[in-house]
Amino acid sequence: MSDIKNLYTAPPQIPSQFITEIEGVSIFMKREDLLHPEVSGNKFRKLKYNIAEATSQKRQILLTFGGAFSNHIAATAAAGKLSGFKTIGLIRGEELGEDLEKTLQENSTLRFASHCGMKLHFINRSDYRNKTSEAFLEDLRKKFGDFYLVPEGGTNELAVKGCEEILTPEDAEYDTICCAIGTGGTISGLINSSEEHQQILGFPALKGDFLKPEIQRFSKKNNWKIIPDYHFGGYAKVDEKLIEFMNNFRSKYGIQLDPVYTAKLMYGIFDLAETGYFLKNTRILAIHTGGLQGISGMNKVLKMRNLPPILTYDESCN
Ligand SMILES: Cc1ncc(COP(=O)(O)O)c(C=O)c1O
Repeated sequence: MSDIKNLYTAPPQIPSQFITEIEGVSIFMKREDLLHPEVSGNKFRKLKYNIAEATSQKRQILLTFGGAFSNHIAATAAAGKLSGFKTIGLIRGEELGEDLEKTLQENSTLRFASHCGMKLHFINRSDYRNKTSEAFLEDLRKKFGDFYLVPEGGTNELAVKGCEEILTPEDAEYDTICCAIGTGGTISGLINSSEEHQQILGFPALKGDFLKPEIQRFSKKNNWKIIPDYHFGGYAKVDEKLIEFMNNFRSKYGIQLDPVYTAKLMYGIFDLAETGYFLKNTRILAIHTGGLQGISGMNKVLKMRNLPPILTYDESCN
C-alpha cells in the first residue's frame, strides 16, 4: 500500500474524460474513483482534513459508523491503516456480530475493513440511531478511549472542505456539474468551489426530502438543485434496467460504475439529456465518486434475486 500522506501532498492529476454527446449535450466525467485504489472517490476528499485534524489533536483512534456494505467504512479502515491510526467501526445490525467468522466470509466490505485492522462492533438499529447523541458518544469514549469521531458517511465541515478540492480552475469550462448525493457533503463542497456561471445538480441515491437543509448547513450559494427522480426506489435499491445500463456503460465507455450512487447519477444525466432537459451545447461534468468496493455485495444480492450480475474488470468483485 502506498502512503496516504504522500498522496495528499501530491494527489494525482486526472484529466476529465469525454464520455458522449446526447442531443447536443456533451457529457464528461471526472474520475475521482482513480484517486486511490482503497481510499477512493469522495472518501479520499472527505478524510483528508479529518485525518489532518486527528493528527494535530494527537488522537490515536478513528471511530466511525456505517452499514454492512459501507464505502465509508472500507475507506476509513484503509486510510487509518495507511496513516497510522487504530480504527473502530460501529456497524449497523447486531445479528452480524453473532457469527463474526461467517460474516467476514460472506461480506467483502467488512472482511476488507477487518484486514486493514479495523475493530468491528455490531450494534442494534436503535443504538445506531443514537450515533450523534452526546451521551451515547460519551459512553463510547468510556469504552474505547479518546477517539476522533468521523461521522457516518464521513460528512462534516472538514469533509466539505476536502470536497471543495474536487473542482479545479480547469473545470470552469463546464456549465453543469453533477454528482450523486448520500449525506450531502460532496455536493456542498462542489457548490462552495463552483463558479458563478455553473449550476450543480445533485442526484440523491435515496428517497426523502431531508437533504436540502443538510446542504444549506454547509454551503451558502444558491446555484444548485436536487433531481429527486433517479433513486430507483431507495438506498441500494436496483432493478434490471439499472444493471443493464451499468453493464452497457462499462462496455461502451470502459468505465465501471457502482450500483448505489454513480450508476443512478449517470442514468439520470443520460435520461435528462435524451428528454431535452438541458439546453443544446451544455457541457456537463459528472463526478465519479467511487464506491466500486460495494459491487461484490450487490452481486450476491442480485444472485439471490435471480437478476443478472454487474459485470466487472476485477474478478474479486464477483
Ligand atoms: C461512492 C459514493 N458516491 C457518492 C456518495 C454521496 O456522497 P455524500 O454522502 O457526500 O452526499 C457516497 C456516500 O458518501 C459514496 O459512497
